[in-house]
Amino acid sequence: MALVPMRVLLDEAAKGKYAVGAYNVNNMEQIQAIMAAAHNTGSPVIIQASRGALKYTNFAYLRHLMMAAAEENPDIPIAMHLDHGNCLETCKIAIELGFTSVMIDGSLKEDSKTPTTFEENLEVTQSVIDYARPLGVTVEAELGTLGGIEDGVGSGQVNLTDPDQAVEFVDRPKVDALAVAIGTSHGAYKFKEEPRLALDLVREINSRIPNTALVMHGSSSVPKELVEQVNKYGGNMPNAMGVPMSAIQSVIPHGVRKVNIDTDGRMVVTAAIRKVFIESPEKFDPRDYLGPARSAHTERVIQKMRDLGTAGHAGEIEQKSLDDMIEFYKQKGMI
Ligand code: G3H
Ligand code: 13P
Ligand code: ZN
Repeated sequence: MALVPMRVLLDEAAKGKYAVGAYNVNNMEQIQAIMAAAHNTGSPVIIQASRGALKYTNFAYLRHLMMAAAEENPDIPIAMHLDHGNCLETCKIAIELGFTSVMIDGSLKEDSKTPTTFEENLEVTQSVIDYARPLGVTVEAELGTLGGIEDGVGSGQVNLTDPDQAVEFVDRPKVDALAVAIGTSHGAYKFKEEPRLALDLVREINSRIPNTALVMHGSSSVPKELVEQVNKYGGNMPNAMGVPMSAIQSVIPHGVRKVNIDTDGRMVVTAAIRKVFIESPEKFDPRDYLGPARSAHTERVIQKMRDLGTAGHAGEIEQKSLDDMIEFYKQKGMI
Protein backbone atom coordinates (compact mmCIF):
# COMPACT_ATOMS: atom_id res chain seq x y z
CA MET A 1 0.00 0.00 0.00
CA ALA A 2 1.24 3.46 -0.76
CA LEU A 3 1.37 6.12 1.89
CA VAL A 4 -2.09 7.18 3.07
CA PRO A 5 -3.34 10.45 4.56
CA MET A 6 -3.41 10.17 8.35
CA ARG A 7 -7.11 11.06 8.49
CA VAL A 8 -7.87 7.70 6.85
CA LEU A 9 -6.17 5.87 9.71
CA LEU A 10 -7.81 8.02 12.39
CA ASP A 11 -11.32 7.60 10.98
CA GLU A 12 -10.88 3.86 10.77
CA ALA A 13 -9.50 3.77 14.33
CA ALA A 14 -12.58 5.70 15.49
CA LYS A 15 -14.82 3.04 13.92
CA GLY A 16 -12.84 0.24 15.56
CA LYS A 17 -12.37 2.15 18.86
CA TYR A 18 -8.60 1.71 18.95
CA ALA A 19 -5.59 4.04 18.79
CA VAL A 20 -2.74 4.19 16.31
CA GLY A 21 0.78 4.70 17.62
CA ALA A 22 2.72 7.57 16.06
CA TYR A 23 6.37 6.66 16.33
CA ASN A 24 9.17 9.21 15.92
CA VAL A 25 12.03 8.27 13.64
CA ASN A 26 15.45 9.67 12.81
CA ASN A 27 17.23 6.90 10.93
CA MET A 28 16.92 3.72 8.89
CA GLU A 29 17.02 1.25 11.78
CA GLN A 30 14.16 2.95 13.62
CA ILE A 31 12.00 2.95 10.49
CA GLN A 32 12.82 -0.69 9.79
CA ALA A 33 12.09 -1.67 13.40
CA ILE A 34 8.67 -0.01 13.37
CA MET A 35 7.78 -1.42 9.96
CA ALA A 36 8.79 -4.92 11.08
CA ALA A 37 6.46 -4.54 14.06
CA ALA A 38 3.62 -3.29 11.85
CA HIS A 39 4.18 -6.21 9.47
CA ASN A 40 4.36 -8.74 12.29
CA THR A 41 1.12 -7.54 13.90
CA GLY A 42 -0.77 -6.44 10.78
CA SER A 43 -1.05 -2.87 12.05
CA PRO A 44 -1.59 0.47 10.35
CA VAL A 45 1.14 2.86 11.45
CA ILE A 46 1.99 6.55 11.73
CA ILE A 47 5.64 7.34 11.26
CA GLN A 48 6.49 10.85 12.31
CA ALA A 49 9.46 13.12 11.98
CA SER A 50 10.19 16.21 14.04
CA ARG A 51 11.91 19.27 12.63
CA GLY A 52 15.03 18.00 14.39
CA ALA A 53 14.73 14.67 12.60
CA LEU A 54 14.31 16.35 9.22
CA LYS A 55 17.38 18.47 9.85
CA TYR A 56 19.40 15.49 11.09
CA THR A 57 18.60 13.47 7.97
CA ASN A 58 19.08 16.40 5.64
CA PHE A 59 15.40 16.05 4.58
CA ALA A 60 16.09 13.87 1.52
CA TYR A 61 17.35 10.83 3.43
CA LEU A 62 14.26 10.63 5.61
CA ARG A 63 11.99 11.09 2.64
CA HIS A 64 13.63 8.23 0.75
CA LEU A 65 13.68 5.97 3.81
CA MET A 66 9.94 6.52 4.15
CA MET A 67 9.41 5.72 0.50
CA ALA A 68 11.45 2.53 1.00
CA ALA A 69 9.21 1.60 3.94
CA ALA A 70 6.11 2.00 1.76
CA GLU A 71 7.67 0.08 -1.13
CA GLU A 72 8.76 -2.81 1.09
CA ASN A 73 5.43 -3.08 2.94
CA PRO A 74 2.67 -3.01 0.34
CA ASP A 75 0.13 -4.45 2.80
CA ILE A 76 0.68 -1.88 5.55
CA PRO A 77 -1.07 1.50 5.50
CA ILE A 78 1.48 4.11 6.55
CA ALA A 79 0.87 7.78 7.26
CA MET A 80 3.93 9.99 7.07
CA HIS A 81 3.47 12.81 9.55
CA LEU A 82 5.31 16.00 10.53
CA ASP A 83 5.54 16.21 14.32
CA HIS A 84 5.31 19.66 15.96
CA GLY A 85 5.48 21.85 12.86
CA ASN A 86 6.24 25.33 14.18
CA CYS A 87 4.94 27.48 11.31
CA LEU A 88 3.31 27.36 7.89
CA GLU A 89 6.67 27.31 6.12
CA THR A 90 7.78 24.10 7.90
CA CYS A 91 4.47 22.43 7.05
CA LYS A 92 4.86 23.44 3.40
CA ILE A 93 8.34 21.91 3.28
CA ALA A 94 7.03 18.63 4.74
CA ILE A 95 4.14 18.51 2.27
CA GLU A 96 6.53 19.12 -0.62
CA LEU A 97 8.65 16.23 0.65
CA GLY A 98 5.61 13.95 0.40
CA PHE A 99 4.31 13.89 3.97
CA THR A 100 0.64 12.92 4.00
CA SER A 101 -0.04 14.67 7.28
CA VAL A 102 1.28 17.62 9.27
CA MET A 103 1.00 18.89 12.80
CA ILE A 104 0.91 22.62 13.33
CA ASP A 105 1.73 23.18 16.96
CA GLY A 106 0.22 26.63 17.31
CA SER A 107 0.16 26.31 21.09
CA LEU A 108 3.70 27.68 20.95
CA LYS A 109 5.23 30.47 18.92
CA GLU A 110 7.60 29.78 16.06
CA ASP A 111 10.45 29.40 18.58
CA SER A 112 8.62 26.27 19.86
CA LYS A 113 9.00 27.61 23.41
CA THR A 114 6.78 30.61 24.07
CA PRO A 115 3.06 29.90 24.58
CA THR A 116 0.73 31.68 22.16
CA THR A 117 -2.67 33.22 22.78
CA PHE A 118 -5.78 31.32 21.69
CA GLU A 119 -6.25 33.74 18.77
CA GLU A 120 -2.64 33.38 17.62
CA ASN A 121 -3.02 29.61 17.72
CA LEU A 122 -6.23 29.78 15.70
CA GLU A 123 -4.64 32.03 13.12
CA VAL A 124 -1.57 29.91 12.39
CA THR A 125 -3.65 26.70 12.45
CA GLN A 126 -6.10 28.20 9.97
CA SER A 127 -3.24 29.21 7.66
CA VAL A 128 -1.94 25.63 7.59
CA ILE A 129 -5.41 24.23 6.95
CA ASP A 130 -5.92 26.71 4.12
CA TYR A 131 -2.74 25.40 2.52
CA ALA A 132 -2.93 21.68 3.32
CA ARG A 133 -6.59 20.84 2.92
CA PRO A 134 -6.93 21.62 -0.81
CA LEU A 135 -4.04 19.15 -1.22
CA GLY A 136 -5.79 16.44 0.80
CA VAL A 137 -3.16 16.51 3.55
CA THR A 138 -4.31 15.81 7.13
CA VAL A 139 -3.78 18.53 9.78
CA GLU A 140 -3.28 17.98 13.51
CA ALA A 141 -3.43 21.01 15.81
CA GLU A 142 -2.66 21.44 19.50
CA LEU A 143 -4.50 23.28 22.23
CA GLY A 144 -2.94 23.65 25.67
CA THR A 145 0.74 23.11 26.37
CA LEU A 146 2.65 20.06 27.53
CA GLY A 147 5.23 20.15 30.28
CA GLY A 148 8.83 19.14 29.65
CA ILE A 149 11.32 20.36 27.12
CA GLU A 150 12.59 18.02 24.45
CA ASP A 151 15.34 19.27 22.21
CA GLY A 152 13.98 22.78 22.39
CA VAL A 153 10.33 21.75 21.93
CA GLY A 154 8.10 22.81 24.80
CA SER A 155 7.42 25.72 27.10
CA GLY A 156 8.22 23.78 30.25
CA GLN A 157 4.84 24.81 31.64
CA VAL A 158 1.74 22.66 31.71
CA ASN A 159 -1.40 24.42 30.56
CA LEU A 160 -4.23 21.91 30.40
CA THR A 161 -6.63 22.05 27.47
CA ASP A 162 -9.80 24.03 28.19
CA PRO A 163 -12.87 22.09 26.92
CA ASP A 164 -14.77 25.30 26.04
CA GLN A 165 -11.85 26.49 23.94
CA ALA A 166 -11.59 23.03 22.34
CA VAL A 167 -15.17 23.32 21.07
CA GLU A 168 -14.46 26.69 19.48
CA PHE A 169 -11.08 25.59 18.20
CA VAL A 170 -12.14 22.53 16.24
CA ASP A 171 -15.15 24.30 14.83
CA ARG A 172 -13.37 27.34 13.45
CA PRO A 173 -10.39 25.88 11.62
CA LYS A 174 -12.07 22.42 11.43
CA VAL A 175 -9.01 20.39 12.33
CA ASP A 176 -8.64 16.67 11.57
CA ALA A 177 -7.09 15.87 14.93
CA LEU A 178 -6.51 17.77 18.15
CA ALA A 179 -3.60 17.24 20.51
CA VAL A 180 -4.75 17.84 24.06
CA ALA A 181 -2.68 18.69 27.12
CA ILE A 182 -3.64 16.48 30.07
CA GLY A 183 -0.47 16.61 32.14
CA THR A 184 1.94 14.56 30.04
CA SER A 185 5.26 15.95 28.90
CA HIS A 186 7.91 15.02 26.38
CA GLY A 187 11.00 13.11 27.41
CA ALA A 188 12.00 10.56 30.04
CA TYR A 189 11.24 12.56 33.20
CA LYS A 190 7.52 13.12 33.11
CA PHE A 191 6.70 12.87 36.81
CA LYS A 192 8.62 13.27 40.06
CA GLU A 193 6.83 10.76 42.25
CA GLU A 194 3.90 9.14 40.53
CA PRO A 195 2.03 9.77 37.29
CA ARG A 196 -0.61 12.48 37.64
CA LEU A 197 -2.83 12.92 34.62
CA ALA A 198 -6.12 14.69 33.98
CA LEU A 199 -7.73 11.63 32.43
CA ASP A 200 -11.24 12.94 33.16
CA LEU A 201 -10.46 15.92 30.99
CA VAL A 202 -10.14 13.61 27.97
CA ARG A 203 -13.60 12.25 28.69
CA GLU A 204 -15.01 15.75 28.97
CA ILE A 205 -13.35 17.02 25.79
CA ASN A 206 -14.48 13.93 23.91
CA SER A 207 -18.05 14.39 25.06
CA ARG A 208 -17.97 17.98 23.75
CA ILE A 209 -16.23 17.24 20.40
CA PRO A 210 -16.99 13.55 19.79
CA ASN A 211 -16.18 13.71 16.08
CA THR A 212 -12.62 14.96 16.46
CA ALA A 213 -9.75 12.51 16.86
CA LEU A 214 -7.83 13.33 20.03
CA VAL A 215 -4.06 12.98 20.20
CA MET A 216 -2.00 12.19 23.26
CA HIS A 217 1.55 13.53 23.10
CA GLY A 218 4.25 12.62 25.59
CA SER A 219 2.95 9.06 25.81
CA SER A 220 6.09 7.03 26.32
CA SER A 221 5.82 4.66 29.25
CA VAL A 222 9.54 4.74 30.10
CA PRO A 223 9.41 1.14 31.36
CA LYS A 224 11.30 0.49 34.56
CA GLU A 225 13.22 -2.43 33.08
CA LEU A 226 14.53 -0.23 30.27
CA VAL A 227 15.66 2.44 32.72
CA GLU A 228 17.39 -0.31 34.72
CA GLN A 229 19.06 -1.72 31.61
CA VAL A 230 20.34 1.69 30.53
CA ASN A 231 21.70 2.34 34.03
CA LYS A 232 23.14 -1.17 34.43
CA TYR A 233 25.25 -0.75 31.31
CA GLY A 234 26.78 2.57 32.24
CA GLY A 235 23.93 5.00 31.54
CA ASN A 236 22.72 7.66 33.89
CA MET A 237 18.97 8.14 33.83
CA PRO A 238 17.96 8.52 37.47
CA ASN A 239 14.26 8.68 38.30
CA ALA A 240 13.06 8.46 34.71
CA MET A 241 9.29 7.90 34.69
CA GLY A 242 6.59 7.76 32.04
CA VAL A 243 2.88 7.28 31.41
CA PRO A 244 1.61 3.80 32.32
CA MET A 245 0.06 2.00 29.36
CA SER A 246 -3.02 1.35 31.52
CA ALA A 247 -3.63 5.13 31.70
CA ILE A 248 -3.44 5.41 27.92
CA GLN A 249 -5.73 2.42 27.49
CA SER A 250 -8.28 4.01 29.82
CA VAL A 251 -8.74 6.99 27.47
CA ILE A 252 -8.82 5.12 24.16
CA PRO A 253 -12.58 4.54 24.57
CA HIS A 254 -12.87 8.34 24.93
CA GLY A 255 -11.67 9.46 21.53
CA VAL A 256 -7.88 9.13 21.74
CA ARG A 257 -6.91 7.88 18.27
CA LYS A 258 -3.24 8.84 18.02
CA VAL A 259 -0.63 8.17 20.68
CA ASN A 260 2.81 9.77 20.27
CA ILE A 261 5.85 7.75 21.24
CA ASP A 262 9.44 8.88 20.86
CA THR A 263 11.30 8.46 24.15
CA ASP A 264 10.61 4.71 24.53
CA GLY A 265 12.11 4.17 21.07
CA ARG A 266 15.18 6.15 22.03
CA MET A 267 15.60 4.27 25.28
CA VAL A 268 15.25 0.78 23.88
CA VAL A 269 17.89 1.52 21.26
CA THR A 270 20.24 3.05 23.83
CA ALA A 271 19.79 0.16 26.25
CA ALA A 272 20.53 -2.44 23.56
CA ILE A 273 23.60 -0.63 22.24
CA ARG A 274 24.98 -0.08 25.74
CA LYS A 275 24.58 -3.80 26.47
CA VAL A 276 26.63 -4.79 23.41
CA PHE A 277 29.34 -2.24 24.20
CA ILE A 278 29.72 -3.47 27.77
CA GLU A 279 29.34 -7.20 27.12
CA SER A 280 31.29 -7.37 23.87
CA PRO A 281 33.86 -4.56 23.91
CA GLU A 282 35.72 -6.20 21.04
CA LYS A 283 32.87 -5.46 18.62
CA PHE A 284 33.27 -2.51 16.28
CA ASP A 285 30.99 -3.27 13.33
CA PRO A 286 27.93 -0.95 13.59
CA ARG A 287 25.75 -3.87 12.47
CA ASP A 288 26.72 -5.70 15.65
CA TYR A 289 25.06 -3.08 17.83
CA LEU A 290 22.56 -1.39 15.54
CA GLY A 291 21.15 -4.81 14.57
CA PRO A 292 20.32 -5.86 18.17
CA ALA A 293 19.00 -2.34 18.83
CA ARG A 294 16.68 -2.65 15.84
CA SER A 295 15.41 -6.07 16.99
CA ALA A 296 14.79 -4.83 20.53
CA HIS A 297 12.94 -1.80 19.15
CA THR A 298 10.73 -4.06 17.02
CA GLU A 299 9.77 -6.14 20.08
CA ARG A 300 8.75 -3.00 22.01
CA VAL A 301 6.66 -1.64 19.15
CA ILE A 302 4.95 -5.02 18.67
CA GLN A 303 3.84 -4.80 22.30
CA LYS A 304 2.66 -1.19 21.84
CA MET A 305 0.63 -2.15 18.78
CA ARG A 306 -1.06 -4.90 20.75
CA ASP A 307 -1.65 -2.69 23.79
CA LEU A 308 -3.12 0.19 21.77
CA GLY A 309 -5.42 -2.19 19.93
CA THR A 310 -3.85 -1.38 16.54
CA ALA A 311 -2.80 -4.96 15.84
CA GLY A 312 -4.76 -6.78 13.16
CA HIS A 313 -6.40 -3.71 11.60
CA ALA A 314 -4.12 -3.11 8.60
CA GLY A 315 -6.33 -5.14 6.26
CA GLU A 316 -9.41 -3.04 7.02
CA ILE A 317 -7.93 0.22 5.77
CA GLU A 318 -9.04 1.35 2.36
CA GLN A 319 -6.29 2.72 0.15
CA LYS A 320 -7.11 6.39 -0.25
CA SER A 321 -5.00 8.93 -2.06
CA LEU A 322 -4.66 12.63 -1.37
CA ASP A 323 -7.03 13.18 -4.32
CA ASP A 324 -9.63 10.96 -2.64
CA MET A 325 -9.28 13.08 0.47
CA ILE A 326 -9.84 16.29 -1.49
CA GLU A 327 -13.20 14.80 -2.58
CA PHE A 328 -13.91 13.73 1.00
CA TYR A 329 -13.31 17.26 2.33
CA LYS A 330 -15.44 18.75 -0.44
CA GLN A 331 -18.31 16.44 0.40
CA LYS A 332 -18.06 17.37 4.07
CA GLY A 333 -18.03 21.07 3.18
CA MET A 334 -14.56 21.40 4.68
CA ILE A 335 -13.16 23.07 1.56
O1 G3H B 1 8.05 16.35 20.34
C1 G3H B 1 9.12 15.91 20.65
C2 G3H B 1 9.63 14.68 20.05
O2 G3H B 1 10.05 13.82 21.07
C3 G3H B 1 10.70 14.99 19.04
O3 G3H B 1 11.90 15.26 19.63
O4 G3H B 1 12.74 17.30 18.42
O5 G3H B 1 14.28 15.77 19.69
O6 G3H B 1 13.29 15.04 17.54
P1 G3H B 1 13.13 15.90 18.77
P1 13P C 1 7.50 11.01 24.42
O1 13P C 1 8.67 11.88 24.76
O2 13P C 1 6.71 10.66 25.64
O3 13P C 1 7.88 9.80 23.65
O4 13P C 1 6.50 11.88 23.50
C1 13P C 1 6.73 11.99 22.12
C2 13P C 1 5.87 13.02 21.47
O5 13P C 1 4.87 13.47 21.99
C3 13P C 1 6.27 13.43 20.13
O6 13P C 1 5.46 14.43 19.61
ZN1 ZN D 1 4.75 15.84 21.03
